[in-house]
Amino acid sequence: TWTPAAFVETTVAELKAKIGDEKVILGLSGGVDSSVAAVLLNKAIGDNLHCIFVNNGLLRKNEFEDVLHQYKDMGLNVKGVDASARFLDALEGESDPEKKRKTIGRVFIEVFDDEAHKVENAKWLAQGTIYPDVIESVSATGGPSATIKSHHNVGGLPDFMKLKVVEPLKMLFKDEVRRVGKSMGLEPNLLGRHPFPGPGLAIRILGDITREKVAILQEVDHIFIQGLKDWGLYDQVWQAGAMLLPVNSVGVMGDERTYEKCVALRAVESTDGMTADWVNLPYEFLQKTSNDIINKVPGVNRVVYDISSKPPATIEWE
Ligand code: XMP
Repeated sequence: TWTPAAFVETTVAELKAKIGDEKVILGLSGGVDSSVAAVLLNKAIGDNLHCIFVNNGLLRKNEFEDVLHQYKDMGLNVKGVDASARFLDALEGESDPEKKRKTIGRVFIEVFDDEAHKVENAKWLAQGTIYPDVIESVSATGGPSATIKSHHNVGGLPDFMKLKVVEPLKMLFKDEVRRVGKSMGLEPNLLGRHPFPGPGLAIRILGDITREKVAILQEVDHIFIQGLKDWGLYDQVWQAGAMLLPVNSVGVMGDERTYEKCVALRAVESTDGMTADWVNLPYEFLQKTSNDIINKVPGVNRVVYDISSKPPATIEWE
């Protein structure tokens, strides 16, 4: 029978034999798959694994700093690359969802390729591909490999794509990846993290993206997600997040009428993201969260809760 401990032992031995003393590059996303792949490779080849963690400026509040710290504490040889400005500049004025995705994919490849070139004599590219990604061929939840697939026909392959590929989780399902991670001592907060789209907050800001909108949405999202954790609801939800709508609505403050932003909160139950049901969060929680958001986030005067299931309503609004 399959056990996580036996998988780790066999895989580490295989990776050692396959890679020897050559250098490997891996893009960390903060998600479960790339993190587990990194720890597994780190066990096998130590600091010859060079991890790259890119901040695209569209992550959750404090996510880049917190997760980078956590990776370092885990003993990973990781370089954090803050490319926020490059992504946000490239996205300026763009409001078409697919163009946003393409721009982010393109810039990611450029940034990643620059960083990969700095690792001298690298021979391998490691990826956290899991079995469902292999069968779908392009991962539903994206990640670097999916982005690359839709881009490599434009202007030839970037150099890092010419490296030999190693995918240690290729035969595993998500729950097995979590068990493997747990058996290697990864923190529950990393293993239990909700899925988060590669383009990040870019596809949760409807319409064009500005630094100000990113900052507003980060605050709103932080209040919502921290609230779910504080109320013990986080682990009961498959994915949650906030959307910044391209709509202003009227509010009253004393004698003044304001005209400010509206945010939508979304929390869903799902097993694979293909179908999803909205979660019946307690009214008391929604009440408290809405008050906190409106009181603490300047520029937002209205909060709505998305009660639509997929199909037809996708989890993301873009
Ligand atoms: P939808 O919105 O299609 O999302 O119901 C299903 C799952 O996929 C994630 N998602 C993405 N992930 N790049 C990604 O890496 C994307 O462009 C993208 N679009 C949606 C979404 O967060 C959900 O988990």
